[in-house]
Amino acid sequence: MSQVKKAIIPAAGLGTRFLPATKTVPKEMLNLVDAPTILYVVEEAVNAGIEDIVLIAGRGKHAIEDFFDTSFELEDKLAQTGQLHLLDRLLKIRNVANIISIRQKQALGLGHAVYCGKPVVGNEPFAVLLGDEITIGQDGSPSVTAQLVKNFSENQISSVSIMQVSDEDVSKYGIAEVEKISDHRHKVLSVVEKPKPEQVKSRMALAGRYVFDSQLFEELKSGKPGLNGEIQLTDSMKSLLNKKGLEALTFTSQRYDAGDKLGYLKATVELALKNPALETEFKKYLKDLTQPWSRK
Ligand code: UTP
Repeated sequence: MSQVKKAIIPAAGLGTRFLPATKTVPKEMLNLVDAPTILYVVEEAVNAGIEDIVLIAGRGKHAIEDFFDTSFELEDKLAQTGQLHLLDRLLKIRNVANIISIRQKQALGLGHAVYCGKPVVGNEPFAVLLGDEITIGQDGSPSVTAQLVKNFSENQISSVSIMQVSDEDVSKYGIAEVEKISDHRHKVLSVVEKPKPEQVKSRMALAGRYVFDSQLFEELKSGKPGLNGEIQLTDSMKSLLNKKGLEALTFTSQRYDAGDKLGYLKATVELALKNPALETEFKKYLKDLTQPWSRK
């Protein structure tokens, strides 16, 4: 029985929705309270038992690699000035996992970005976590990636995370037609990338967390450019589904698309409200802001 120990985190997109900020700063490095989005994603992978993380980086994305590297000067300064809690946090970040960076030379689409991870992943099953999406779990419940990893270890089948979306949002996502197996677990019958609402019955969209059998690489290798001329992950998932089957899991975590302005703002507010050092004052500020008549 094989276990999922490797993950690919695609972070080489152009981030056009965040321009001009993302002209020089990768969107995965944009700050959520006090840590970049990518750290939340890496921590989700590590907490799900992932040991090796393949980071797919693009041009101008050194900042991500540097973030997980040693910063001697900073660490020395923190040690000398006795700021040990911060030093400890930085040490944890650089030791969080074995991070291997691979360059995607051109942003040819998500499917292409995932394929770039093949030299490291080889013939093993692997997780994929989009570098600009974060999930915040309910206390004590497993993260989305942990659920997918567990499902693979129990059933040896690829699976994707799915969530209910409104009619208006159907055309923003890959949509999966599914049949319930049990509670959170479903069999995928078909997947289609960004359909019009009238083209599909299902309202179950693919969220940015997946676990795949290595057969997916074979499907990606022969994949042709699809929607928008990009190599779409969804197209290869379709072939994988026909050959080896595919499951879908619903989840209880809150999921935020931090690659989108509104999603990013929602994630920032939510994380600030969960931060013990900010919680009380920030809650009061939000209350005053939304109920201006209660201001003194
Ligand atoms: P997105 O489609 O959200 O990223 O891809 P994007 O293309 O950067 O977005 P906009 O629309 O221009 O703002 C989801 C994830 O896949 C990565 C992105 O970095 C993001 O984390 N990605 C996408 C790649 O690594 N390579 C690609 O060619 C495309």
